Amino acid sequence: MPPVIRMRMPASSDGVSGSLAPLAGRVGRATLQRPMVQAMPTSPPLAIRPLEPASIPAAARLLAASMRDNPLHQRVFAGEGTRLEPLLADAFIRLLRRQMRTGHVLAACEGDVLVGVAAMVPPGQCQPDLREKLAMLSILARGRALRHLPRIARWLRAWARHDPECAHWHLGPAAVDRARQGQGIGSRLMEAVCDRLDVSQGVGYLETDTPANVRLYRRGGFEVVAEEPVLGVPNWFMQRQPGVCSTPCPARTTPASTASSPTPGAAPQSAKRVIESAR
Ligand SMILES: CC(C)(COP(=O)(O)OP(=O)(O)OC[C@H]1O[C@@H](n2cnc3c(N)ncnc32)[C@H](O)[C@@H]1OP(=O)(O)O)[C@@H](O)C(=O)NCCC(=O)NCCS
Repeated sequence: MPPVIRMRMPASSDGVSGSLAPLAGRVGRATLQRPMVQAMPTSPPLAIRPLEPASIPAAARLLAASMRDNPLHQRVFAGEGTRLEPLLADAFIRLLRRQMRTGHVLAACEGDVLVGVAAMVPPGQCQPDLREKLAMLSILARGRALRHLPRIARWLRAWARHDPECAHWHLGPAAVDRARQGQGIGSRLMEAVCDRLDVSQGVGYLETDTPANVRLYRRGGFEVVAEEPVLGVPNWFMQRQPGVCSTPCPARTTPASTASSPTPGAAPQSAKRVIESAR
């Protein structure tokens, strides 16, 4: 990327802008100043690497801030208001620790600045064990949010019903810093995730709750295998075959509705080809 160069015009003492000052008849009095050309610092290049354990709290805060407004979180934790973000951050700390032990947690970094996170766990690791469930309960209790338990249970049951029968890598959570969304960082994270799926020849699987996310994942070679409202919020269940794409494997139980798509007719495509062309 070329360095960003910004032109700064000096302001005159009476507030007339530097560029207009000569026209105001001041040339004789003031020293003629050439516009200063200043090279603004550029961001360090984006790197995708494993998250350092010490960065788990920062990653959890990023996920919480970026995901608090997702439609399903808003529905499940209705009424939490400003308490939702810290509550989610606590839960993500616990989740990321487990995911780091069992799978991959990828960090998108510009120098030392964390700008995105994506996690994936290998086959057999997607359902939390009893200890994890109890830990989540205590996080809810600490956050005085136990009243959401019935909705959380319905949410998790609905998602579990769609889990593919076949061995799969379960993806998520994933998010990019709110201020940096729409700049290609999520696509770079997805590319790194897809590379790992291809290396392990693994099926990728995820759940999501916005049509914009469905479009993004489609570009990575995921296809919608089911769609079902969870607590009234549309959810899409997506799978990706390694090297993209063969027939998706069925869900553990028959989904309540068949797959449909927010952009009908869009075909899954090769991750790399599409990501490359989006650059
Ligand atoms: C989804 C997310 C990780 C994508 O990362 P990103 O860096 O914004 O994505 P990119 O810039 O690489 O790609 C842009 C594409 O992402 C999708 N997208 C989803 N949410 C988006 C957002 N808030 N802003 C911009 N793009 C978004 C769109 O498909 C968009 O393409 P389009 O402009 O053609 O519609 C990020 O936007 C995010 O953190 N969103 C909130 C949390 C979330 O929904 N996480 C995913 C849960 S499954």
